[in-house]
Amino acid sequence: MAEGKLITLSVIKADIGSLAGHHIVHPDTIAAATKVLAEAKRKGLIIDFYVTNAGDDLELIMTHTKGVDSPDIHGLAWDAFKEAAKVAKELGLYAAGQDLLVDAFSGNVRGLGPGVAEMEFVERPAEPVAIFMADKTEPGAFNLPMYKIFADPFNTAGLVIDPRMHEGFIFEIYDVFEGKYVKLSAPEEIYDILAIIGTPGRFIVRRVYRKADGEIGAVVSVERLNLIAGKYVGKDDPVAIVRAQSGFPAMGEILEAFAFPHLVAGWMRGSHHGPLMPVPLRYSKCTRFDGPPRVIGLGFNIKNGRLVGPSDLFDDVAFDETRRLAQTVAEYMRRHGPFMPHRLGPEEMEYTTLPQVLEKLKDRFKIEEKAVKAKKPQIRSELLEETHD
Ligand code: 13P
Ligand code: 13P
Ligand code: MG
Ligand code: MG
Repeated sequence: MAEGKLITLSVIKADIGSLAGHHIVHPDTIAAATKVLAEAKRKGLIIDFYVTNAGDDLELIMTHTKGVDSPDIHGLAWDAFKEAAKVAKELGLYAAGQDLLVDAFSGNVRGLGPGVAEMEFVERPAEPVAIFMADKTEPGAFNLPMYKIFADPFNTAGLVIDPRMHEGFIFEIYDVFEGKYVKLSAPEEIYDILAIIGTPGRFIVRRVYRKADGEIGAVVSVERLNLIAGKYVGKDDPVAIVRAQSGFPAMGEILEAFAFPHLVAGWMRGSHHGPLMPVPLRYSKCTRFDGPPRVIGLGFNIKNGRLVGPSDLFDDVAFDETRRLAQTVAEYMRRHGPFMPHRLGPEEMEYTTLPQVLEKLKDRFKIEEKAVKAKKPQIRSELLEETHD
């Protein structure tokens, strides 16, 4: 079998402003970004592209041969976002330029606001991929589906049946607070993997590799905007790429992981838990309580870098029951109003406007002299760094 071409697939997204609130991208901003990418394709910088939206997030899907973290490709995405943001400002769209945290591009969009998922691979004779794009949630929302796809034999039959997958997969997990990552091996270390990724606000499954040969199987954007900006600006709505078939999970095994609308952080003001609802493109806009959080999926085949497709992966009655359950869960969660666990916990609320409200009440609290004070639990890094004897 002849070796295929070495291709990079880049999905770069940003919220550059949207119509009628944090609702939906305006077609004119899609057109503005498309124009920039079409010109880059004509010049040969990229091989192919597809522009779409996940709710109020503008999504650029590009193929090229420049590798991951290429200044040329990131610069191109930045230009496309800038042009689209210009249109957003002209139209007076809401939160125009939201995710463009700085004025000038400096070689790489990471840390500047946009979310990035990129992978480089040698194209197989047939190279099916799924691209997932979510709105009103955070990168850790993909932890549960990634685990199911690549480590749970009750989800992915291929882990049991397919000899090329039977050895398992390596999970690369990133700690967004500490900037550290760890590689853990499934199935041997699944309890360790779960101990970590069950905290999706901090630990994010960033990449998955096939253990047998180290081939990359999946990549997730890990940018957490609020941590970068130090305040609430939006909810880091994430993107993910998963390769399918021939030694990777079948497309249906990948989609199966989204049949359960699990609770994720995000929704209204990025401050609430709600179910992640898989929807077709035509429902890629958030409504009720700015949600519920939703995810779209596009299936492509890549041939010599060309993006063949897409197929709108959740545009099927097979996901109707998932959506119905998501609605029921949304209703149940909504009835909690401002109470946890619908509203996020204090650690996550630090990045919202709630601290400003609490600040106002600070002086109203009186000291209780005889109080027996509870010890504050240790949170964040201290827990991991502690040495036990
Ligand atoms: P087909 O026989 O339709 O190619 O399907 C094979 C398969 O593995 C489905 O998951
Ligand atoms: P986005 O992160 O999608 O911009 O939504 C922000 C928000 O506050 C929704 O209520
Ligand atoms: Mg927005
Ligand atoms: Mg959004």
